[in-house]
Amino acid sequence: MLSNLAEIEQEINSFPVTGPDELENFRLKFISRNGLLTKLFEELKNVSREEKPAVGKKLNEVKKLAEGKYNSLKEQFDDTTSAKETIDLTLPAAEFSIGREHLISQTLAEMVKIFREIGFKVTDGPELEEEFYNFDALNTPAHHPARDMQDTFYVQSKVDKDKKYVLRTHTSPVQIRTMLANKPPLRIISPGKVFRNETVTFKNYFMFHQLEGLYVDKNVSMQDLKGVLAYFFKKFYGEKTKTRFIPSFFPFTEPSGQIDISCFICGGKGCKTCKETGWLEVGGCGMVDPNVFKSVNIDPEEFTGYAFGIGMERITMMKYGIKDIRTFYQNDVRFLDQF
Ligand code: DAH
Repeated sequence: MLSNLAEIEQEINSFPVTGPDELENFRLKFISRNGLLTKLFEELKNVSREEKPAVGKKLNEVKKLAEGKYNSLKEQFDDTTSAKETIDLTLPAAEFSIGREHLISQTLAEMVKIFREIGFKVTDGPELEEEFYNFDALNTPAHHPARDMQDTFYVQSKVDKDKKYVLRTHTSPVQIRTMLANKPPLRIISPGKVFRNETVTFKNYFMFHQLEGLYVDKNVSMQDLKGVLAYFFKKFYGEKTKTRFIPSFFPFTEPSGQIDISCFICGGKGCKTCKETGWLEVGGCGMVDPNVFKSVNIDPEEFTGYAFGIGMERITMMKYGIKDIRTFYQNDVRFLDQF
């Protein structure tokens, strides 16, 4: 009987089971009430007394082997069958949310498109900027009161100990970099991030975007500046948009202007958005100051130029009626998805 058991043991091991039907055959053959093992247990009483302990032991081992194989395979098949049952192929697919372009990126792309169509080239500058480009070369030396206009994040470099760094407070330093690297005529725009150490409120944020413009050539006039900005805002807000310039001050332009556009909510009649004035402020501009030309070795007798800076969050908020600048950067998809 022992040799018989060894054979059965082998048979159990090699019995091929690849699915539930074969598993059932396995059960019927070995473990069921009419199976081989039950019969062998019955036959145990016929085994001689001396042999009985060894045969009984072996028989129990074989039984365990068969049950073990059966249970583990059953578990395996049950798992896959139950998983199969829970897949309902008629269910609609789960919604897959894909990202979208941030509203400020959309504004940026739109602005770039409008300016490129009229011959402006896009340039770039670093966000971590040298104080020289951000202030000095823009006719704003240290202790100049105009530095107070912009709350600056100063950055201490451990590598370049003698250079002073800031997070650029405006995109105007790109003017300097462009004029140092290229000879006029120049016609560039430069959109990008700027940083100011301001208390965060519904209208101020420590980071925002500007688009800088610069045109340098012979005989560039204030008329050209007004023309190009009036053109841009008509394209951006609609043909009815009017532009006006009111005197202002920036160290790097002379004369300097504040750019206002007619309120497109009320058409200039006066409403809550424009605080009953009919006008909305969108940026600064002016004719490049001769001192700026001198700092980049351009002869102010030969060349003139205009420059402007437009606040991108500002014009976007106005276009879409967004009341709080912080919503741009809270990453709430319920807000961002609307645009
Ligand atoms: N850089 C100025 C600011 O951030 C805006 C500005 C004003 C840019 C006049 C200009 C300009 O290019 O000519 O407040």
